[in-house]
Amino acid sequence: MQVKAQYESFPYPGYPILAKPRTEELLSCSSAYNRILAGQSGVAHNTLILGCGEFQPLAFRKVEPHYNRLNFVDLSARSIRRGRLRLGLNKGNAHFYEQDIESFLLEKISNCDRFDHIDLYGVLHHMPNPGSVIKLLPRVLQRDGVIRCMVYNSSGRRWIHGIQKMLKTLDLSPWSKSERRRAIRFVKSLTEYSNVYDYFFENCSPRLLTNENAFVDTFMHRCELQDDISFWLSSFDRCGLECVALLDRYSELDDLPNPLWSMPRTDQLMERVRDRRFEGNLELILVPKAIEAKRVCESSSYDLKLYAQPPSWWFLFDETNSLPRKWKRHFWMHWHEWVQTGALFPEDFLKQTPFRAIQRLARIGGILRGQLREKDIAVIGAAIDIEGSFPEPLDKSSHLNNLFKGVEQLLGRGLSSQQQLDLYKTMEWVEEFYM
Ligand SMILES: C[S@@+](CC[C@H](N)C(=O)[O-])C[C@H]1O[C@@H](n2cnc3c(N)ncnc32)[C@H](O)[C@@H]1O
Repeated sequence: MQVKAQYESFPYPGYPILAKPRTEELLSCSSAYNRILAGQSGVAHNTLILGCGEFQPLAFRKVEPHYNRLNFVDLSARSIRRGRLRLGLNKGNAHFYEQDIESFLLEKISNCDRFDHIDLYGVLHHMPNPGSVIKLLPRVLQRDGVIRCMVYNSSGRRWIHGIQKMLKTLDLSPWSKSERRRAIRFVKSLTEYSNVYDYFFENCSPRLLTNENAFVDTFMHRCELQDDISFWLSSFDRCGLECVALLDRYSELDDLPNPLWSMPRTDQLMERVRDRRFEGNLELILVPKAIEAKRVCESSSYDLKLYAQPPSWWFLFDETNSLPRKWKRHFWMHWHEWVQTGALFPEDFLKQTPFRAIQRLARIGGILRGQLREKDIAVIGAAIDIEGSFPEPLDKSSHLNNLFKGVEQLLGRGLSSQQQLDLYKTMEWVEEFYM
């Protein structure tokens, strides 16, 4: 109930009602694109978006063909209302369900309904018992269906868990506007007291501190599980789902072969989680285990309705950001051409492009395996030769005594000695991890 109440008050992601999806948002929702990553061809005809929030309906409607039946499920009435509103008159074959995911799936199982694409982005870790939902997924997925799923890599969120604990210690509740504002001011002020927070706020989206919906979702959530990634991977495995691809959004797994083309083993990921080389979320493509995914990487012969500009994040990486503008457009053009017709990447263009840029783009879906000739696949998909990938420990420079004074000023009230002790312990718990 608490989770529903949260998303009624703070629908996610809380974009303005006239906001348009960016190319990368359209692409990541596209069933054809996710099928390509799973080694399957074609476009979905019956798609299920679980925990759709208030913005995914628009992205799916824009990128999917009109014959694809889109089923949007969310327990928040407000998210469903805003999602529907965004579609305006362009609703097409979209259907909205204000319902709990588990009860929705049980209903579909009893009606023998099946879906060929399921999207579960940022949802499972907010459910008190995700295992019971994971168990139902293979029963509603077509034999050649594909799931895109994102769950938190909890170990990479120690600094966020620290803030969550501190806000609880300070008794700041998301339901009161003034307490929310104090919470935001407190979190902003943490950068003055600890290098850890200075570092993370430098590197994360400014939206976290400017948009209340994003702030509550991250720092004041009513239910965030802290299971590590081995829990998620073994839950999928036990329930008959195979992870076939992982998106390494932050280039943390460069010492492994391209994880979009060959899924790393759990022990390889856990080793990198333990020494903090891998802190990004688990962004996975899953297929039913019963059928061997063909992994052929066929084009979908479908004209994806994307914008003329390529996803901007493809070119935010060191290896790709200095490519000439014209080249960036060429990558996008060839990418489209392959999706529609299966045309291979032109060999001369490949030779002119720095190898590092090719490898990076292949790791983030900017160059697809099917676009390459057999002879190039192994070399491009290999691990990247890297040095110094271990995170540097941060300097310890926290001033906790000042923190208590600062917090008292922000809150306009004194802290009890128990609160001081708890804040201190939490700060230590966070800092020890990163120093
Ligand atoms: C973090 S948001 C993600 C929204 C969307 N998937 C996105 O990526 O923009 C989580 C969403 O899951 C929904 N949700 C959480 N638990 C749910 C449940 N048990 N049944 C249905 N929806 C749920 C919430 O209402 C919220 O809209």
